[in-house]
Amino acid sequence: MIIAANFKANLSASVVAEYIKYVESKLDSSLKNELIIFPNFISLQTAKDFAKKINIGTQNAYPALNGAFTGEITLEALQTLDIKTILIGHSERRILLNETQQMCNEKFRFYKNQDFKIIYCIGENLDIKEKGESSILKFLENQLKNIDLDYKNLIIAYEPIWAIGSGKSATLNDISFVSEFIKTKTKAPILYGGSVNENNAKEILALQNIDGLLIGSAALNANTFLNIIKG
Ligand code: PGA
Repeated sequence: MIIAANFKANLSASVVAEYIKYVESKLDSSLKNELIIFPNFISLQTAKDFAKKINIGTQNAYPALNGAFTGEITLEALQTLDIKTILIGHSERRILLNETQQMCNEKFRFYKNQDFKIIYCIGENLDIKEKGESSILKFLENQLKNIDLDYKNLIIAYEPIWAIGSGKSATLNDISFVSEFIKTKTKAPILYGGSVNENNAKEILALQNIDGLLIGSAALNANTFLNIIKG
């Protein structure tokens, strides 16, 4: 299983350091889960310094080696930290930062060529969901267009927008329905994200086509994250 924590724009670098030290000190050596943490940019260096067992990924990066991209980070900065994992297509970037599908595709191509592990996020909004199953699949299919679904370091995160941060996760039926569809397209592991917490994580992880979780708010608390990891 892959358990990933997306800290979004939360937690200072010193808190991230304490978090990682604490979580790693509590991990059992027999732990089989792959753990990934996506801290904010300013915490990446500290996170890398402290993480021994947890993989540290970036929440975003511009598709270029370096250059005039104010406010962005690029490949060169990630290389200096030895970061090789990236989140692409998170709905908050698509919606709040107006990141287009074309930009997601460019980022995907660029970081794939650099051999990065890519967690590519897809998910429909409430309007689409209310239109029914065929609308959901059509929408998700468009988000998967031009993404190399055979890429060996690809992980897909299904995160319905209406479930993110809402406290209301998708139902097991919703998740099964979509993950079954994704499995027809790719052999990549599938994560579910959207209001995952200590109470629902276990049953979601038990679903046949689900290979892990992408957790936002519940992962901000180290003990909650540990409880989810340990099942
Ligand atoms: P949430 O966020 O767990 O707070 O719903 C998930 C995500 O956005 O990755």
